[in-house]
Amino acid sequence: MPQFPAHRIFPTPDAASEALAAEIGDLVSTRSSEDRSVVLGLATGSTPIRLYAELTRLHREGLSFSNVITFNLDEYLGLGRDHPESYWQFMHVRLFDHIDIPPENIHIPDGGIPDGELEGYCAGYEEAISEAGGIDLQVLGIGRNGHIGFNEPGADPNLPTHVTKLNEVTIGDAAEAFGGAGNVPRRAITMGVKTILEARRVALLAFGESKAEIVRLSLSPGVTSQIPATYLQLHRDSTYFLDQDAGAQLG
Ligand code: F6R
Repeated sequence: MPQFPAHRIFPTPDAASEALAAEIGDLVSTRSSEDRSVVLGLATGSTPIRLYAELTRLHREGLSFSNVITFNLDEYLGLGRDHPESYWQFMHVRLFDHIDIPPENIHIPDGGIPDGELEGYCAGYEEAISEAGGIDLQVLGIGRNGHIGFNEPGADPNLPTHVTKLNEVTIGDAAEAFGGAGNVPRRAITMGVKTILEARRVALLAFGESKAEIVRLSLSPGVTSQIPATYLQLHRDSTYFLDQDAGAQLG
């Protein structure tokens, strides 16, 4: 029986990003030749920046994203779209402003939704994913504490998109970008582990020495809510795309 997630170790982050971009590009063009759409789940953070640069390059070389529908994993609660650290800004600056995806095909959780409307909003996000036909390929990063999306240690794997509290490690890692831990939002909207596991394929990117330990732990057989990425062991088509540093502790 093959073990999942599979992992591929590339010489550099660029090489890993190019390999995943090529896979996504093939999926997009195959579907386009069949006159079908493709649904991508997308992540933010420092890790996928090179992936988005490479997808932008493929677009400049002729790849159209007009048949692509996207759903982002998560967003900080309390940040409007114009906030420089919002994931809405990140995705537009890094990818959407440079490709021909129709704006109505882009879905990013809205961090400005008032508390009383959040439950219905999260249910609506899940419905939109279903109506689009489900996620064909979900891109993930991994937190140093093993989070995927903002499913932090202890996450309930049965939850769909929901509101969650950020863990101290996550807040600490975001502190610099927000000019201090005190400015980091405490809550976020995130796809749940359930949403992620329903994607037909999952590709997790991890680069650098700081991810080596959590990459090893999350690939060690055994599923635990203390390391949410271990839930990917339950997915039959999941692959880690690693650089040498992130893969350094794998046997
Ligand atoms: C981002 C997300 C997070 C990040 C993770 C790694 O949308 O859901 O799980 O993927 O925190 O972040 P970086 O890539 O900045 O190390």
